[in-house]
Amino acid sequence: MKKMVNLLSGLFLFLLSMHCFVACLASNTKNITTDKYALLAFKSLITSDPYDILANNWSTSSPICSWVGVTCDERHNRVYGLNLTNMNLRGTISPSIGNMSFLVILDLHNNSFGGQMPKEICWLRRLKFLRFSMNKFVGEIPAALGELSQLQYLRLGINNFNGSIPQSIGNLRRLKLFTVVKNMFSGLIPQTISNMSSLEYVGFSSNYFSGNIPPSIGNCTSLIDVFLDTNFFTDSCGIDGNIPLEVGNMSNLLSFSVNGNNINGSIPGTFKDLHKLQGLDLRNNGLQGSFVKELCQIDNLDELYLESNKLFGVLPTCLGNMTSLRKLYIGYNNLNSTIPSSLWSLRDILQVDLSSNAFIGNIPLEIGNFKAIILLDLSRNHISSNIPTSISSLRNLQNLSLAHNKLYGEIPTSLGEMINLFSLDLSQNMITGVIPKSLASLLYLRNINLSYNRLQGEIPDGGPFKNFTAESYLHNEALCGDPRLQVPLCDKQAKKMSMKKNLLLKCILPILVSTIFVVACIILVKLNKRKMVENTLERNLSTLGAPRRISYYELVQATNGFNESNLLGRGGFGSVYEGKLSNGEIFAVKVIDLNSEEKLRSFDRECNALRNLRHRNLVKIISSCSNIDFKALVMEFMSNGSVEKWLYSNNCCLNFLQRLNIMIDVAYALEYLHHGSSIPVVHCDLKPSNVLLDEDMVAHVSDFGIAKLMDEGQSKTHTETLATIGYLAPEYGTKGIVSIKGDVYSYGIMLMEIFTRRKPTDDMFVEDLTLKTWISESLPNSIMDVLDSRLVQQNGGKIDDILSCMSSIFGLALNCCKDSPEERINMEDVIKMLIKIKTMVLDENMV
Ligand SMILES: *[C@@H]1O[C@H](CO)[C@@H](O)[C@H](O)[C@H]1NC(C)=O
Ligand SMILES: *[C@@H]1O[C@H](CO)[C@@H](O)[C@H](O)[C@H]1NC(C)=O
Ligand SMILES: *[C@@H]1O[C@H](CO)[C@@H](O)[C@H](O)[C@H]1NC(C)=O
Ligand SMILES: *[C@@H]1O[C@H](CO)[C@@H](O)[C@H](O)[C@H]1NC(C)=O
Ligand SMILES: *[C@@H]1O[C@H](CO)[C@@H](O)[C@H](O)[C@H]1NC(C)=O
Ligand SMILES: *[C@@H]1O[C@H](CO)[C@@H](O)[C@H](O)[C@H]1NC(C)=O
Ligand SMILES: *[C@@H]1O[C@H](CO)[C@@H](O)[C@H](O)[C@H]1NC(C)=O
Ligand SMILES: *[C@@H]1O[C@H](CO)[C@@H](O)[C@H](O)[C@H]1NC(C)=O
Ligand SMILES: *[C@@H]1O[C@H](CO)[C@@H](O)[C@H](O)[C@H]1NC(C)=O
Ligand SMILES: *[C@@H]1O[C@H](CO)[C@@H](O)[C@H](O)[C@H]1NC(C)=O
Ligand SMILES: *[C@@H]1O[C@H](CO)[C@@H](O)[C@H](O)[C@H]1NC(C)=O
Ligand SMILES: *[C@@H]1O[C@H](CO)[C@@H](O)[C@H](O)[C@H]1NC(C)=O
Repeated sequence: MKKMVNLLSGLFLFLLSMHCFVACLASNTKNITTDKYALLAFKSLITSDPYDILANNWSTSSPICSWVGVTCDERHNRVYGLNLTNMNLRGTISPSIGNMSFLVILDLHNNSFGGQMPKEICWLRRLKFLRFSMNKFVGEIPAALGELSQLQYLRLGINNFNGSIPQSIGNLRRLKLFTVVKNMFSGLIPQTISNMSSLEYVGFSSNYFSGNIPPSIGNCTSLIDVFLDTNFFTDSCGIDGNIPLEVGNMSNLLSFSVNGNNINGSIPGTFKDLHKLQGLDLRNNGLQGSFVKELCQIDNLDELYLESNKLFGVLPTCLGNMTSLRKLYIGYNNLNSTIPSSLWSLRDILQVDLSSNAFIGNIPLEIGNFKAIILLDLSRNHISSNIPTSISSLRNLQNLSLAHNKLYGEIPTSLGEMINLFSLDLSQNMITGVIPKSLASLLYLRNINLSYNRLQGEIPDGGPFKNFTAESYLHNEALCGDPRLQVPLCDKQAKKMSMKKNLLLKCILPILVSTIFVVACIILVKLNKRKMVENTLERNLSTLGAPRRISYYELVQATNGFNESNLLGRGGFGSVYEGKLSNGEIFAVKVIDLNSEEKLRSFDRECNALRNLRHRNLVKIISSCSNIDFKALVMEFMSNGSVEKWLYSNNCCLNFLQRLNIMIDVAYALEYLHHGSSIPVVHCDLKPSNVLLDEDMVAHVSDFGIAKLMDEGQSKTHTETLATIGYLAPEYGTKGIVSIKGDVYSYGIMLMEIFTRRKPTDDMFVEDLTLKTWISESLPNSIMDVLDSRLVQQNGGKIDDILSCMSSIFGLALNCCKDSPEERINMEDVIKMLIKIKTMVLDENMV
């Protein structure tokens, strides 16, 4: 019996090896002709080729290696790559593709191929790159896909694949990137994922995956990005599903997102072990329990999204330790503590949303510490206090909602200093007193809601108030003003009217009634418009960007291989290119010239300086890309180029207000660098070519190549003089002393330059005549002589209004450029003065 078994198994082995022999023989007979037949078979199943690319080019009379999209491996004389991206081809994939046994790259991204993925693909044992994304493939993916043991990139996103991910996937030990976003895959994530030890990126978003997230995912310690959004995880029979504790083992993770699932356990404390984690998105689930203290220990966390869950209890004090945090979204939960005072110490935070919880307590004076904040939403809580006047130091704030609380007291007049305010919602509180007139100076204000309060007195009518409707003021105690707003006329207006137009009084009532009717109609129309504005704003905020890494490969693609036509400029450091990512996002990339030691150091400094800086008026660094022979910084793209370009170009001319706004923006940036970040930063090279303008003409300070971190004391001496002649403070040039006062000096010079259109290095400045002395001699009576002649032309008859401002501006510039650093004004005071000047200009223009 035993012998029989041995015999049989021997026979079996023999047959098996014969089979292999035959198979090997067959594959040995494959040659370039095999590839040709395979490609012709492939072509024969293409039903639509609108650009006639294959029809004209894939001709049997020319060698296949010259065919469009085909690349060959010269050594083996076989097809190495088949790349037919973006060709709008329709059809199905011929199984004969499995015969192209030397294929390494198969890329059919963005076509209209349909049908199933042929199982013969699994014969392609050399395949490293397989991309079928953005097509119309259907059905299940072949179970044997795991046999592609060399595969590194598998991208199947945006198709109609269904079924589950085969267990065999675990065999793909070399796979780095695996994405199947936007398909109809269902079932569980295979346990075998734990064997994929090279996996760096998984994108499973927008499918129908269910069940628990397998704890074995914790073994994929190479993972950097995990996107599991919009699925049905832990939808299993009402049983609580947790995020597995093992997530804490993925120590390389930068972002983790399970937004929009049904996960209903508690937040695992093991997140604290993810020291590199920058983005954590657990929104829109049923997470229960408390805001676990361990979250505070994720020391590099940049964005934390927990809204729309069922968290309750205390928002812990340790929040104050999360100094890297830029965005904190915990709205729509049931947190019911006070807001911990430590929260207000997060000076660099940009967006805070605590809305729709049950927070109690007050808004403290310390709210003024939120220097960088852009969005603050505390609405729909039980906060009971007055609005502290210190709120006015939130100069970057665009969106403030304190609606639906128990706020009392008056609206602080200082609110008028929050010059970037776009939307202000104080509705549904118990606020008393009058609406401060100062709010009329908020130029960017587009939405205001003061309804359901106890306000009284006159509604301001200047500035943005011209556009607000009755809806902003509903249900208050005794507001008065323009009848358009469905409030009574104020006493003094009524008196004026009765004196002037006594006779008409009898007619007014009927007119009033009919206008109210008309106004009501207009309001209905405008209501819709307002919604649109809000929606756009929301979109803008949501695209503010997640933490990113951009690979060298992506950079090359995005810049067409650093093509000349993408070149934006060249400088001492290297070159700047414009790039466009596959998602359409445009950016600028500064490629550092690696020839010099000094430039390398400068690159590292720029990275260091910028890593922790975030401000509306600094150019945002999206990413850096650094390896041994390539270093680059990826930055926000500033579509309007540099101030230098605007100032000296013959085609474009900046008007007075634009110049003033630019200098205010620059002042904010410097104030933030000098006083707003944890370690003062000295820019060291401020000049018009280093200030860039975005599409809204908002100025952003850039180029931190020689910036200094003032971590040891208030000033430093150093020997390199890299800064630009003309803008250098005297103490820097002669003694090499670097301090924030040096930046103030450069700022003063730039302030003179922008209104005179004369560089400090202009040929006219010889011997004792410098830009500075030229200006100071022109004061107070011959300002016209130094002013940019274009400004004079533009303003014609109104030039007198500007001249009075100009003498204040030049006075300020001279204060910035005092010889002795101690005597120079600081940036905080510069801002105050410029805002005052701007308000003056605008007031004059308004009447
Ligand atoms: C490819 O192999 C076939 C036999 O399988 C042979 O007839 C043909 O000549 C070979 N072609 C080339 C280019 O080597
Ligand atoms: C096909 O296109 C390639 C590259 O564009 C070109 O080199 C080749 O000559 C073309 N062949 C034919 C037959 O048109
Ligand atoms: C295929 O070609 C497209 C367009 O030329 C290119 O963007 C893409 O990177 C290529 N794919 C691979 C894997 O090289
Ligand atoms: C897809 O390809 C078409 C050309 O066939 C092109 O117009 C389109 O921009 C491509 N889409 C993407 C997202 O690359
Ligand atoms: C692969 O090539 C062989 C000949 O080399 C052929 O007999 C077979 O039909 C081909 N397979 C497919 C799926 O086209
Ligand atoms: C996948 O879709 C095909 C139709 O494209 C359908 O016949 C098949 O039943 C589906 N399979 C699953 C598991 O849903
Ligand atoms: C993972 O790989 C090991 C061998 O390397 C194997 O024994 C094990 O079965 C694999 N596990 C899974 C879940 O595939
Ligand atoms: C994960 O790794 C640990 C330790 O290396 C091992 O003991 C465990 O079996 C692995 N789990 C899975 C599911 O592969
Ligand atoms: C993985 O995580 C689990 C749960 O937190 C832990 O018990 C285990 O020690 C971790 N394993 C490794 C290898 O770190
Ligand atoms: C907060 O809610 C929890 C349970 O929901 C309750 O036990 C606790 O008393 C509440 N705390 C406050 C301060 O209301
Ligand atoms: C913040 O961190 C420090 C040092 O890491 C620690 O001593 C302190 O207890 C933490 N604060 C809170 C509130 O957790
Ligand atoms: C009023 O609204 C219009 C368009 O909605 C806008 O162009 C204008 O600047 C606004 N005026 C003020 C003073 O805000």
